[in-house]
Amino acid sequence: MYKPRLFVVETVLGCNLQCPGCPIGVNLVTRKKKLMDWDTFIIIADKIKPYAEYVYLHEWGEPLLHPRIIDMVEYLKPIRCGIATNGQLVTDDVAKKLAACGVDVMVSLDGYTQEVYEKYRAKGDVKKAYKAVELLLKHDVKDLAVRYVTFKHNQHELDSFMKKMNEMGIKNASPKVPFVMEGCGLEYAPGYVRETPDKFSQCVALTRTMTVGVDGTVHICCNDYNMLGQLGSLMTHDVLDIYNSEVVNNLRRDLKNNLPPEVCKQYCWSWRTSRK
Ligand SMILES: C[S@@+](CC[C@H](N)C(=O)[O-])C[C@H]1O[C@@H](n2cnc3c(N)ncnc32)[C@H](O)[C@@H]1O
Ligand code: SF4
Ligand code: SF4
Repeated sequence: MYKPRLFVVETVLGCNLQCPGCPIGVNLVTRKKKLMDWDTFIIIADKIKPYAEYVYLHEWGEPLLHPRIIDMVEYLKPIRCGIATNGQLVTDDVAKKLAACGVDVMVSLDGYTQEVYEKYRAKGDVKKAYKAVELLLKHDVKDLAVRYVTFKHNQHELDSFMKKMNEMGIKNASPKVPFVMEGCGLEYAPGYVRETPDKFSQCVALTRTMTVGVDGTVHICCNDYNMLGQLGSLMTHDVLDIYNSEVVNNLRRDLKNNLPPEVCKQYCWSWRTSRK
């Protein structure tokens, strides 16, 4: 019997930015944009609580667009939760509330000047992103991390970013290896490259993680952003029923045998990181 312990819950399907390397940012997600209903969240939360060791309260999308994101963290207690955010909506009040509820926060900040920053974080304001880090630090967010998704166009500002983080007293700041979708106009930087997968058998998505969409639909992992592989719904079924269904068992076995389904062949970029 397989039991998931890490949950990815899509609280928001939508974003305030338009990053060219993100399926939400460039409208590759064909599902209707929406916030998770509170009632849907409660059904999901009650079902995952017995198993969850950690809950990510976002998939693609910007979690701080959800007006009840803090309530969600509170409702899931004592389970630890985390979010990643582009930081654009972090005011002093938001930072204070995030710190008080104890959620882990990762800020995505990939530029030093506005000109370079907005090449990826389209419609974003670099000053707001740095301010967000400052405010989250000031209020002492439990586990604060800052990640610089490093592409060819912004690699030359990585040192300035790291220096700034150092000056601000951010202990957990680092570059992140990107994925580069075909045709998105972005390029890898030397040393920050993801390679084509050849060992799907290493995938752990279906042995420890459950990924739940905005309407409660369980899907194979966040790479399946249009849910080509729907595995069941937490609105009607329980966690273990879905995770141990024939469909999921077959997928798990196929992945283990390095025989991935079409969706993995097409969309997987999760674990193919390598440094050159
Ligand atoms: C899809 S975002 C969702 C949360 C939030 N909107 C944000 O951007 O932080 C989740 C994580 O993916 C990262 N990310 C976005 N585009 C990426 C890319 N092309 N390659 C690797 N990571 C990326 C973000 O920086 C963030 O750490
Ligand atoms: S801010 Fe996050 S969710 Fe929004 S478009 Fe960029 S990477 Fe995607
Ligand atoms: S897309 Fe990749 S990470 Fe997701 S289930 Fe398939 S092989 Fe695993």
